[in-house]
Amino acid sequence: MPAFDAEQLRSDFPILTTEVAGKPLAYLDNGATSQKPKCVIDLIDRFYAEGNANIHRGVHFLSRTATEAYEEARRSIKASLNTPDSHELVFLRGATEGINLVTNGLEAQLQEGDEIVLTIMEHHANFVPWQVLAKRKGLKLHFVGIHDDGSLDLDAWKAAFNPRTRIAAFTHISNVLGTINPVTEMTAFAHEHGAQVLVDGAQALPHGPADLTAIGADFYVFSGHKVFAPDGIGVLVGSKEALNSFRPYQTGGDMIDRVSIDGTTFRDAPERFEAGTPNISGALGLAEAFRYLGEIDWSAAAKHEGHLADLATQELKALGNVRFFGTAENKTAIVSFLYDLAHPHDVATILDTEGVAVRDGHHCAQPLMDYLEVSATVRASFAFYNNEADVDAFMRGMHKAKRFFG
Ligand code: ALA
Repeated sequence: MPAFDAEQLRSDFPILTTEVAGKPLAYLDNGATSQKPKCVIDLIDRFYAEGNANIHRGVHFLSRTATEAYEEARRSIKASLNTPDSHELVFLRGATEGINLVTNGLEAQLQEGDEIVLTIMEHHANFVPWQVLAKRKGLKLHFVGIHDDGSLDLDAWKAAFNPRTRIAAFTHISNVLGTINPVTEMTAFAHEHGAQVLVDGAQALPHGPADLTAIGADFYVFSGHKVFAPDGIGVLVGSKEALNSFRPYQTGGDMIDRVSIDGTTFRDAPERFEAGTPNISGALGLAEAFRYLGEIDWSAAAKHEGHLADLATQELKALGNVRFFGTAENKTAIVSFLYDLAHPHDVATILDTEGVAVRDGHHCAQPLMDYLEVSATVRASFAFYNNEADVDAFMRGMHKAKRFFG
């Protein structure tokens, strides 16, 4: 039965008891990467202490056991995501590799003059690969803007489609604004207009499960390190038909059907895209993180995270001289702001002296920064294990910044 007790959950994360600058760590940089529960850390330890072997290659006990654990990780993550039978799950390094795999695979299918619809709120990972592809193939990119509150201009997005549109790629949740996009509606609309859809789920899964059957996208990507799992592991869930039509992204061992000196034939997805020894412990850690997350009541977690973000927002308003970026009704617990009396880097540096970790800068979203006419913001991004003491520490740091710069 899913439950939610923030303090109990917090105690599952060893790093949250550490100190920074002699102060308790207040970790508000969850958008950049999340912390890892002890069960994930222990599982990886145990794999190397007791279960390490290569997979898909040996008949010996350890190899068989590691292979079964790796494939069970794939099965259990697919089940957690309610992956449609028509789709396959590929383990990769992260969301970025997943998007590069898709742009690489689609290249052969696109003709000069074909069009791709993107949004201005994309992370560079869901921006640069399309831009590079467009330049190589002579494609046209549409960058759809946002309203003042940071929500997508859905009318403009719909108006960007035409008979040459082949692909729509958009983020599930903006890493800067926190905006939650209506991905199911957007996917259905794009499909009605004959476009394939890629959804970047990197910022969504840390805030609750995704139902990939309901969303219906052709491709959905995310990174393990943002969902309380190790780095260097990520997932692309893609339609088998599309994936098997792609040329292999990388070639080598384990992805082949038959190799001879005259030529090589390749396996279907997922093996087609998992050349070489994969990140076995990462896949097991990711499955363990999903098992752990499966025990959380996500509607209570969302309320808790929202409460903390609201509290920080109210207190920043009371501090004064703060501008917010991303105030949409439907948003997750990200507070992006500018303190007009100090540069974001100076604010983040002062916060660090209070043990508070936030991100400052362009957040790998420079086109959005240009659109907002700023070069950087400060971003406090919350997870379910944050608490009011973290907000208090954050505000102590902000008051210190005010004393320093005000
Ligand atoms: N994409 C990560 C962030 O938003 C790194 O900080």
